[in-house]
Amino acid sequence: EQIRKGNFEHFMQKEIHEQPDSLTMTMRGRLIRGGEQKAKGILLGGLKDHLKTIRRSRRILCIGCGTSYNAALAARPVVEELSGIPVTMEIASDLLDRQGPIYREDAAIFVSQSGETADTLQALEYAESDGALCVGITNTVGSAIARGSHCGIHLNAGCEIGVASTKAYTSQIAVIVMLALALGDYSLSTQQRRNAIMDDLYNLPSKVRDVLKLDKDMKELAALLMDEQSLLVFGRGYNYATALECALKVKEVSLMHAEGIVAGEMKNGPLALVDETLLIIVIATRDASLNKQQWKARKGRLIVMCTEGDAEFMCPDRTCRIIEVPKVQDCLQPIINIVSLQLLAYHLTVFRGFNVDQPRNLAKSVTTQ
Ligand code: G6P
Repeated sequence: EQIRKGNFEHFMQKEIHEQPDSLTMTMRGRLIRGGEQKAKGILLGGLKDHLKTIRRSRRILCIGCGTSYNAALAARPVVEELSGIPVTMEIASDLLDRQGPIYREDAAIFVSQSGETADTLQALEYAESDGALCVGITNTVGSAIARGSHCGIHLNAGCEIGVASTKAYTSQIAVIVMLALALGDYSLSTQQRRNAIMDDLYNLPSKVRDVLKLDKDMKELAALLMDEQSLLVFGRGYNYATALECALKVKEVSLMHAEGIVAGEMKNGPLALVDETLLIIVIATRDASLNKQQWKARKGRLIVMCTEGDAEFMCPDRTCRIIEVPKVQDCLQPIINIVSLQLLAYHLTVFRGFNVDQPRNLAKSVTTQ
């Protein structure tokens, strides 16, 4: 069933539209809703004997490649917030190139859809030999990374066929947010915040269903942009990763040059590129970093992603194109935001006439270094 395209033309399209279901599967049996007798909570069976060790770690390392790295980056702020432990991000190949120091007091989280990526697997062997606790987050039961780690969490997102990862990305973020909730569940001071996140996790599949209704708008937008040469995507805070992941999706499938840039760095170089012809997407959904969004890129041709109802506030002179998305808790907003951009990348690729499911030079799983 899962390896057929059904009513869809491409696997990528099918997998984008499957996300309400894949997220439901990822959370099934793990997100405890609570009730009269029961407290709300998170149950991660694969970690039950190791949560205490992770809580005592001196640092958490998140290690991955490509989209899996971006997913961990998206969830990093909430892991730091709820666990109080510093989180270091590592691209697997770069950690290996540097032979970066790893300690026995570290918890290393390996994020990989396939569970077979050579760089991530080798980084796992490296961290394990240095005595770190190794946690695997994969979508493939029995994969090398699942087998090689001390404990882990399966995504349960279902088989992903399209080379460009979509539903695994959103499930990876959901899983790491659940991990953050589990790590912080002893703290009374964060109880309200955790409850609010759990409520929004519960409602996430239906919110994603709402975002998928933007399909037609994204197709229209893609038709307008199909002949562009280049795209910059700015985001900050929770949505720094959204900017990177949007740019990665656009370049890997539609073969349009795209760069994701953390908005705070715009003034330190990228601003020089901005003129009236440059196409820019700004992710500006409401969260604590919104006030810091800089509109210095005004000169460029702007597409602004904002929270529903904010269009007027974001673009009073109506000179930019707006993508309005539903609001959820800040740490879950990257899931909502990327879905519309996945649709944009998909339609751009179809209009540009490239192979959606098998982009040139790329493989679903890179098993050689
Ligand atoms: C390849 C794929 C990407 C993927 C990356 C990491 O480059 O083309 O879509 O994000 O590998 O794969 P993994 O299976 O480790 O998540």
